[in-house]
Amino acid sequence: MSLDSLNITSTHHRDTYPAISPTKTSLSQAGKAVLITGGGGGIGFEIARSFAKAGASKVIIVGRRSTVLDAAIVKLREEFKGSATTEFIARQGDIGNDDSVSSLWEFLNSQNIFVRVLVLNAAHFDPMGPDTLKMDKQELMDGFNVNVGGNFLMTVNFVNQLLRPAGQQLNLINVSSAGIHMIPATNQTPYTTTKSAFTALIGRISDEHPVEDIQIISYHPGVLYSEGATKYVDKNMFKWDEMALPADYAVWAASPEASWLHGRFLWAHWDVDELKANKDFLKRLDSEKGFLRVAVQGLKEISVDAFLNKQGHNKL
Ligand SMILES: NC(=O)c1ccc[n+]([C@@H]2O[C@H](COP(=O)([O-])OP(=O)(O)OC[C@H]3O[C@@H](n4cnc5c(N)ncnc54)[C@H](OP(=O)(O)O)[C@@H]3O)[C@@H](O)[C@H]2O)c1
Repeated sequence: MSLDSLNITSTHHRDTYPAISPTKTSLSQAGKAVLITGGGGGIGFEIARSFAKAGASKVIIVGRRSTVLDAAIVKLREEFKGSATTEFIARQGDIGNDDSVSSLWEFLNSQNIFVRVLVLNAAHFDPMGPDTLKMDKQELMDGFNVNVGGNFLMTVNFVNQLLRPAGQQLNLINVSSAGIHMIPATNQTPYTTTKSAFTALIGRISDEHPVEDIQIISYHPGVLYSEGATKYVDKNMFKWDEMALPADYAVWAASPEASWLHGRFLWAHWDVDELKANKDFLKRLDSEKGFLRVAVQGLKEISVDAFLNKQGHNKL
């Protein structure tokens, strides 16, 4: 049975709340270096602030425009100047460019920076429009190149860091979108499909890598009036969520408190304590591998055994 995303918990948060507060001791990011793609603006910048509040030792923000990154670094250093805990680093880079991704990780390695938490937040939104079949193939593929290929290559480099101590757990946060289950996705079919594709890919990667190796959480951040949003929608069109919600949620999702949700897609709005106390939710999480994963709506997940003459084969 499908759940209603807007009513999964009785409290539908629009702003941060104590359970996901980055100053909570159990969510501390002390001693950890955190890399946020697209951390110079929008949701990514707010995520950078939240990780600093959680005491991360280093917050590295990556984006294509150095002016945006420089301005962000000034703001972050100003806000956190009273605490000597977090070092802020900006690195110009394009996750859709393989050389740029390689040089980013070479730089980090050369600086002896081991990234413990990776937040895949940067995204390519175009092309948008009502008729996907009138779109240019290259423009369509540019979205896949950044949102799938770029995120994939960032993940590969993250997991294979030379500085990663043997057995060291990593945390990966995929800033996804409710668009992955929006049907139809009017005007944004390519964007939502790329977001679905990467959420599917990283969800399946979580089957290959247990939570002790790399804790992976994908989430819908909300409806946020970011720089990106201003390009596509009128401010009066939506009831916007507060930036602190997805920002603090990212810290919670990168903590041991979220380990039980490894590989799943969630909404930042769902009350984390209520979720954990919901027996039906826990049962489904335990018994349905496809629960909160990208798959075919209306169909239960299928295992390869069904095709291997072990169970259910005679029904195929
Ligand atoms: N805003 C919403 O309501 C909303 C809703 C659902 C999901 N999301 C998701 O939330 C995330 C952040 O969205 P946002 O609204 O904050 O977007 P945004 O305001 O456009 O910010 C995106 C950031 O990513 C950077 N970026 C874009 N392409 C990049 C690339 N190829 N390499 C490196 N950095 C790149 C941009 O900086 P440069 O241009 O300088 O590179 C920018 O700072 C995205 O994953 C989006 O899909 C947002």
